[in-house]
Amino acid sequence: MTSEPIIYEGKAKIMKIIGDIAEMTFKDSLTAFNGKKRSSFDGKGAINAEISYILFKLLEKHGVNTHLLSRKDEKTLVVKKLEMIPLEVVVRNYVAGSLRRRVLLEEKSKLPFPIVELYYKNDELGDPMINSYHARLYGISEDTISEIEDKALRVNEILTKALESVGIILADFKLEFGYYKDGKILLGDEISPDTCRFWDKETMRSLDKDVFRFDLGDVRKAYLEALERIRNVKI
Ligand code: TMP
Ligand code: ASP
Repeated sequence: MTSEPIIYEGKAKIMKIIGDIAEMTFKDSLTAFNGKKRSSFDGKGAINAEISYILFKLLEKHGVNTHLLSRKDEKTLVVKKLEMIPLEVVVRNYVAGSLRRRVLLEEKSKLPFPIVELYYKNDELGDPMINSYHARLYGISEDTISEIEDKALRVNEILTKALESVGIILADFKLEFGYYKDGKILLGDEISPDTCRFWDKETMRSLDKDVFRFDLGDVRKAYLEALERIRNVKI
């Protein structure tokens, strides 16, 4: 017996859920500032799908459990269906973006240690930054938070090293986690130039969505350069 697929369409992806499995199709659309700035370019979905595929495979190889199963086509990854934890987990190695509003450190300077931040995914509140006490209000225990933070820092170690080998500084990034049917917490969602800040090691030039957010140049070229380098990451 097969059940009807359930389809969710977000700003950057379409999720088609079929039983325990989901097909995650990456769209060509590009949004920033909570959807206030919009654009798109041909091939963006395929670039983000391939980068996510390579980086999730790399993480799996290093012992991080993720939702990844396979790549179905250019733009589509097949993943395990998760019950998502409503948090965005941001890890920062350098000063950029919203951190500039919280610390008196120079833009693009290296932090003395990685910073982990939690944001509650809620459109009505505009995804506010929260701490583990607030998370408890939403039924997310302190143990879950510490497990997620440990995993996020482990992901940071693996990705920082891998990207460094292809001349990319991982300035910061966002992760999302969820529960698999066996109760295990797996890394979900995507890891792409939409959700990371990638900087060229030599020039500190952005190879990510900041090119679109702040009109820094040709966004397609920046995403393609990130992909071409990430293809050379040794796994
Ligand atoms: P921020 O500096 O705007 O807080 O973003 C930190 C990192 O998280 C950056 O790499 C972009 C990523 N991010 C998302 O993937 N989705 C979001 O909605 C936001 C606000 C940030
Ligand atoms: N607000 C997020 C950003 O600036 C994402 C979005 O609006 O799609 O990246």
